[in-house]
Amino acid sequence: MPVSGIIRVTDGKHKPSCMISAKLRSRAPKVDSGRLTWGNISVEPENGMALYYNGKLLCRDYPAPRRPRTSLPPEEVAQLMSEGHLPAEFLPGADQWAVEVVKELAPDAHIYGLGDKTGFLDKRHYAYENWNTDDPAPQCDNFQRLYKSINFFMVYSSAGCCGILADNTFRTRFDFGKEQDDYYFWSHDGGQLDYYLIPGKEPKEVLAKYLTLTGKNKLQQKWVYGFHQSRWSYYTPREVLETVDTMRENRLPLDGVFLDIDYMQNFRVFTFNRDRFPDPKGLMKALGERNVKVTCSNDPGVKIDPGYYVYDEGVAGEHFAKNPDGSVYEGAVWPGPAAFPDFTRRETRSWWGEKLRFLTDAGVRGVWNDMNEPANFTGPIPDDVRFAAGSHKEVHNIYGHFMGQATYEGLLAADGRRPFILTRACCAGSQRYCAAWTGDNHSIWAHLQLSLTQMMNQGLSGLYMTGADVGGFGSDTTPELLVRWCQLGAISPFFRIHYAKGTRNQEVFSFDKATMDACRVSLDLRYHLLPYIYDLAHADMPILRPLVLEFPEDEHVWTLTDQCMLGPSLMAAPVMTPGVTARAVYLPKGVWYDYYTGRRYTGGKYILAEAPLERIPLFARAGAVIPVSQGKPQSVEEIRSEVLEVFPGKGSHVHYYDDGETLAYETGLLRSLKVSVSGRTVQQTVTRDGYPGPDSLEVIWKA
Ligand code: NOJ
Repeated sequence: MPVSGIIRVTDGKHKPSCMISAKLRSRAPKVDSGRLTWGNISVEPENGMALYYNGKLLCRDYPAPRRPRTSLPPEEVAQLMSEGHLPAEFLPGADQWAVEVVKELAPDAHIYGLGDKTGFLDKRHYAYENWNTDDPAPQCDNFQRLYKSINFFMVYSSAGCCGILADNTFRTRFDFGKEQDDYYFWSHDGGQLDYYLIPGKEPKEVLAKYLTLTGKNKLQQKWVYGFHQSRWSYYTPREVLETVDTMRENRLPLDGVFLDIDYMQNFRVFTFNRDRFPDPKGLMKALGERNVKVTCSNDPGVKIDPGYYVYDEGVAGEHFAKNPDGSVYEGAVWPGPAAFPDFTRRETRSWWGEKLRFLTDAGVRGVWNDMNEPANFTGPIPDDVRFAAGSHKEVHNIYGHFMGQATYEGLLAADGRRPFILTRACCAGSQRYCAAWTGDNHSIWAHLQLSLTQMMNQGLSGLYMTGADVGGFGSDTTPELLVRWCQLGAISPFFRIHYAKGTRNQEVFSFDKATMDACRVSLDLRYHLLPYIYDLAHADMPILRPLVLEFPEDEHVWTLTDQCMLGPSLMAAPVMTPGVTARAVYLPKGVWYDYYTGRRYTGGKYILAEAPLERIPLFARAGAVIPVSQGKPQSVEEIRSEVLEVFPGKGSHVHYYDDGETLAYETGLLRSLKVSVSGRTVQQTVTRDGYPGPDSLEVIWKA
């Protein structure tokens, strides 16, 4: 057990995978009749690995066999199959797994985490699978698999909080009391038993410990926290520049645009389609002059095409995944027949990283790793396809992670700035390299609701820099949906409108004036709050968080799925249903203020909040300090002056200054200003003086 109080349960044969970034240091326990004790943590290995925290039983193996509900007479199986009603768990062989762990589930336990899974905040009564999957069907509550495989969840009950990280890269299923209400379990399709028990009083403490094991989130360049406009695809420089100029003309702030796959020559990675984009450098320069940065999509699938330099180099360098007979495995993605780089191999990561200079030399500032589950258009990649780190069956779920590592290291070497990588697939620990988005959602209200719980649970899974395609990717959005989605976007860690080919244009200026004006309110709000959001990114907790993280003792918030906190100080109650202009908002105990009007509320109850179409209900906690920008900056670079919005009460906040671009802040080029509030008095102290900045900021009392 390490000093931080994490217990590793393993058969002793298994080496930690790429998910783990720290070596655990063990301390000798106190041993007393089968019980090992380290401070307030005890374990009884012979009693179902019972784990006690502060004397309370937090986690224990289920003492009896599971009671699956999967027996159906064969004629009923056949009948159900005939119309496609058969649940997957009834398929023959569906319950055969190599490794399985079953634990007792307390009646009052709630379950959080597991990355990007669908459904609501609390995962109790649901079952999921971790097998990175690109499935564009509209995802609903009980959808099993999505793009990410984060084998981490927390079980929170009156006994405390127990985080569990299963360090196994094979396909894994989780059942959180769906099969039976008194146990939860997880099963792996291969590999060894290896998991970590992470005890704590409450989710925040467990999350902090989890990050010591899997690595910290990377701070992004400051412009990344601005607004991004994307579509599949902008086809020409003219389209890109017109989009940017129309944003600017309409006073719609913007920091980034994305180029999707059509910028490439027939979807060959590391090429530009020179007919459409004859002068990429010139385009990046023109955009740079408008304070806009470009992120380019990059897929792992390399077109199989002798004579195409990336393919030839890949073959010569043995960079591609192989069939058991040693030949290059051939799948298919956008370019047609494609080979998949073996990112689990160090040499291949270096090769790919070097290739990124093709983009950075042209002035590209971010890389969008897409289709990296990896998706394959010819069906599932066979289990026995070979990678350096193991078979496809073993490495599938960590493929996107290693592509992220290759991209991170390559970008850092080529560009020197904090690498901005947006990924679709990842696993536990990928927060060390990547930001992530939730993939192909649809322009439906259910997906606006879903995106909030996905972001909250990703935050609770240690992946803080997340966002969904605002407005929805597939299907046609409606003006009202876009307005409401921009409101959630404004408080999302990553804020980007992105939409699919063949759906209606989704730039906010493509709508009527009232819609555009309403969306502008949200874009302005984002830039107003940007200094606060950047501070949150500096602090090591989710930027967007469920209320349970801040108010763990308040049972009203344990399953609260439609409200969130932006950092510790602001609470948002987004409207996520059409035709609604007022909504119920739960205010936890304490004093709260309406962020816009300063109206004071006493918490511990529900209120009815006004939610006119152009406004997201926002509430500040007493003592909140919110550093904000002044004026109406149209990009992060235009943020020149900042003030502190303060709400009376007791609280504090740390405000940061750094160069906004490089990693120099890690080695001391950082200024921090601690602001403390007590009643109506504010004290400002410079706590680190490694970067130029003011010694204090003007205070604006908001209530
Ligand atoms: C799938 C991605 O999820 C989507 O965002 C992108 O537009 C398409 N691939 C095309 O590259």
